[in-house]
Amino acid sequence: MAFKQLIAALSVVLSLQAAQAAVVKSKRAACSNGASVSDESCCAWFDVLDDIQQNLFNGAQCGAEAHESIRLVFHDAIAISPALEAQGQFGGGGADGSIMIFDSVETAFQANVGLDEIVQLQKPFVAKHNVTPGDFIAFAGAVAMSNCPGAPQMNFFTGRAPATQAAPDGLVPEPFDDVTKIINRVNDAGQFDELELVWMLSAHSVAASNDIDPTVQGLPFDSTPGIFDSQFFVESQLRGTLFPGSGGNQGEVESGIPGEMRLQSDSLIARDSRTACEWQSFVNNQSKLTSDFQFIFLALTQLGQNPDVMTDCSAVIPLSKPIPGNGPFSFFPAGTSIADVEQACASTPFPSLTTLPGPATSVAHIPPPPGA
Ligand SMILES: *[C@@H]1O[C@H](CO)[C@@H](O)[C@H](O)[C@H]1NC(C)=O
Repeated sequence: MAFKQLIAALSVVLSLQAAQAAVVKSKRAACSNGASVSDESCCAWFDVLDDIQQNLFNGAQCGAEAHESIRLVFHDAIAISPALEAQGQFGGGGADGSIMIFDSVETAFQANVGLDEIVQLQKPFVAKHNVTPGDFIAFAGAVAMSNCPGAPQMNFFTGRAPATQAAPDGLVPEPFDDVTKIINRVNDAGQFDELELVWMLSAHSVAASNDIDPTVQGLPFDSTPGIFDSQFFVESQLRGTLFPGSGGNQGEVESGIPGEMRLQSDSLIARDSRTACEWQSFVNNQSKLTSDFQFIFLALTQLGQNPDVMTDCSAVIPLSKPIPGNGPFSFFPAGTSIADVEQACASTPFPSLTTLPGPATSVAHIPPPPGA
């Protein structure tokens, strides 16, 4: 763990040095809107920003279109396998936009169920602004995150050439996969370890189910799906009840509180001895949540790419708003308490949190994006 943190710290130092080197190499430029960017080519992305904030994200909302745009980043990027390549097969291109270019192939994969809608919604912006699908998916994901209060300052680098092949099936983890399979998969994809897997799953703080089970659409994974906070890590640790009618075979076994859905894989990773303490570490620790997610999102968006030849256009991405109220904070939803926690981290007690007042309420649905 200490070694892991050292590596993370070193990576941050290295990426800072790389960023500084990139700044020295390229000339800073001022865009027509007055913004200062590291390279003139970044300026065009401000037009894309204005367009998608208005016409994709319904006025910079952290709603279903934002949630699915974030999910699209992960499902495009993680589809890369050096292990398959070592066997002489094509292992996928990572963050290369293949999920949009070969959407009829990749959105038919079971793990990508429901992503066809956001791909169809994004495609016209790619054509209109003449950018590559890989760059656009990373951009839309970073902008989507910035629409969610509490999110870190998101990075965005350009330079992804269009994918030339569809990724093979079987590389995107599924909700019914076991923990070892998922850990092995992310390790193959980007040499990520089990702690970094937990960092990735922070994205489920701003997420809802989409076509996992068509009878129960748009069920959030925590009670605050419009805020990037640690509630996902609190509520996934609560004792769950079997999801009504699910049969448990779609990977959507449990609900911690009414109206919410818990993926089987999230439930297992929250309780596995390899991952449980890292899971719990995000409770009441917004700064750890944001810094780890900022790191892992950038790493994912560079899978299969050479970061040295990419251009840092992070200055285009807006800063997110702070969490409303007196946040950042973590709480037990009304009607729940420490007694409902299924403690899984053996070395550290669960943080003591206040319970929201009032009767238990149901979490509101978030209808998936309209089919295009
Ligand atoms: C938050 O996490 C950081 C990094 O692991 C740690 O140093 C810090 O003590 C944590 N803060 C709290 C309040 O737990």
